Amino acid sequence: MMPSTVPPQPVATSPVAPATALHTPAAGPTDTAKTNPHPPAGPNRTPKGPDWWLMMRAFLTQGKRIASFAPSSRFMARKILDGINWATAGSIVELGAGTGPITAEMVRLASPKTRLVVIELDPTLCGRLRERFRGSPNVEVILGDATKFGELLAERGIPKVDHVLSGLPLPSFPAEVRDSILATAARTIASGGTFRQLTVMPLVYYKLYRRYFEAVRFRFVPFNLPPGGVYVCRGFRGAVNP
Ligand SMILES: C[S@@+](CC[C@H](N)C(=O)[O-])C[C@H]1O[C@@H](n2cnc3c(N)ncnc32)[C@H](O)[C@@H]1O
Repeated sequence: MMPSTVPPQPVATSPVAPATALHTPAAGPTDTAKTNPHPPAGPNRTPKGPDWWLMMRAFLTQGKRIASFAPSSRFMARKILDGINWATAGSIVELGAGTGPITAEMVRLASPKTRLVVIELDPTLCGRLRERFRGSPNVEVILGDATKFGELLAERGIPKVDHVLSGLPLPSFPAEVRDSILATAARTIASGGTFRQLTVMPLVYYKLYRRYFEAVRFRFVPFNLPPGGVYVCRGFRGAVNP
């Protein structure tokens, strides 16, 4: 009997999920991370050059959205992660991961069972992240808008995370967007967890974070370019701009 051949069927393509479609650059994030956490970088996503150059170039071309001209130092990465209980951490989300200095430190410290979800809007920086963490099965790199991280986590079946780490330039975001990110963080962080924000303007925004959180501790990091620090925040008070 002749084997029956099935003609190639049209592949159903789902529209890009709203969470990733909103606030996207012209190139537009794709949703391939849903099926493969480390899709190939692709022709326009194989960044050449060292991390400092990719950050510098992104800063020179995008300015405020990148907020820093250099990747965080190892000292900054250690400081933002200091105190996390890696034995119990089930999942951690990092917003605005850049070239991945903090992600790399998490990979070094975390158990392979801890799920690390990393979101970056810039396609070139995201390409670097995907190259860098391709060999780390517990890292999922998402090319997408971190202001929608609640939806991005929900799409992946993650209702709660132990900590939210943010490299986003939150103070320069419109107040209502900042409110929404912090309210999402408050909803998403499991009991006992923290919201951790890095900065390259030490203590300048302490009052801002105190408006949102009951308890804010600032950790200074002198060995960073430029010197900066980390706000570790607990006890969300509610959105400042309802
Ligand atoms: C100050 S850099 C921090 C990079 C990295 N975490 C580090 O410590 O070196 C801020 C990063 O946030 C990213 N970013 C800005 N807005 C974003 C958004 N809405 N969604 C995702 N990433 C964003 C920028 O592209 C940039 O990589």
